[in-house]
Amino acid sequence: MRISFCCTDTKAQPWLEGLRAAFPGAEVEVWSAGAAPADYAVVWAPPQQFIDEQTQLKGIFNIGAGVDALLKLRLPPGVPVVRLDDAGMSVQMAEYVCHAVIRHFREFDGYEADARQGKWSYRKPRLRTDFPVGVMGLGVLGARVSRALAQFDFPVAGWSRSAKAIDGVKCFSGQAGFNDFLAASRILVCLLPLTPDTDNILCRDTLARLRPGGYVINVARGSHLVDEDLMALIDSGHLAGATLDVFRTEPLPAAHPFWTHPSITVTPHTSARTLREESIAQIAGKIAALQRGEAVAGVVDPARGY
Ligand code: NAP
Ligand code: GLV
Repeated sequence: MRISFCCTDTKAQPWLEGLRAAFPGAEVEVWSAGAAPADYAVVWAPPQQFIDEQTQLKGIFNIGAGVDALLKLRLPPGVPVVRLDDAGMSVQMAEYVCHAVIRHFREFDGYEADARQGKWSYRKPRLRTDFPVGVMGLGVLGARVSRALAQFDFPVAGWSRSAKAIDGVKCFSGQAGFNDFLAASRILVCLLPLTPDTDNILCRDTLARLRPGGYVINVARGSHLVDEDLMALIDSGHLAGATLDVFRTEPLPAAHPFWTHPSITVTPHTSARTLREESIAQIAGKIAALQRGEAVAGVVDPARGY
């Protein structure tokens, strides 16, 4: 068996070692133009040339959950594209989002600023019922995040394409449920995949429908958010602020106003990192299953876009 590794911005050697350990008889190499045809590809944002040259693939494994970059390419029909299916990401995402929600709700930034001035001052306790959280996307990550938030007794609403039932979460679905979902939310968390339907979904129209004093947490993709609309709604006072982990251009350009906005927290696309060992174990298990002719979970539907 031959496995070709073609991952932008990723240190290859530890991946090669892990995959070789999982398949001792296999040839596992970093792809270069003109390389021999491989059976399986392990990729992150590969060039079109890789796909065009590798004409004998039996499976393409994406080392992330989001496949928006991969689906921009012309992919061979019938070859399964497999995304990472949690592999240690959902717990990271739950930590990140709960941290951002609690930091905002409990006004920890204000306490930190007070402490820096040696000031011992209480803020009036706020009611959780005044801070309902809406989670857009109830897939592998969104479902875990909504359950984690519900554990802290926040009222939690969730929105997905198909109808769901999650304990402690009021679930809405489809376009028909979108308005009621937004009206039920004050803090909005985006965990949607980036598709033509969800591009620019965090725009003036959507964000204006959040309860007053709304707060936005975008941990999915930068292109979900219309940057100027977010800034305008914060500056007008309708939104209280935002925590943003993902951006249209990454790294976020030095001159971007998000960096210095007092109500916006920026992190460098780090809310749920690909964990190498867990990911290799998952991919190796799925390659072995495909070799045995078995079905695997996490196969992307290119027509749906995720
Ligand atoms: P997933 O399991 O595919 O879940 C996607 C969810 O979004 C599903 O509930 C799906 O509905 C819903 N959805 C898709 N299109 C929709 C639409 N048009 N309207 C309403 N709901 C829609 O994906 P995941 O593993 O949870 O990951 C979500 C995204 O997080 C990834 O695509 C990636 O972009 C991002 N991500 C970011 C980081 C980071 O570090 N910032 C890390 C990992 C992932 P159904 O359930 O009905 O299909
Ligand atoms: C990271 O953003 C991922 O999609 O896994």
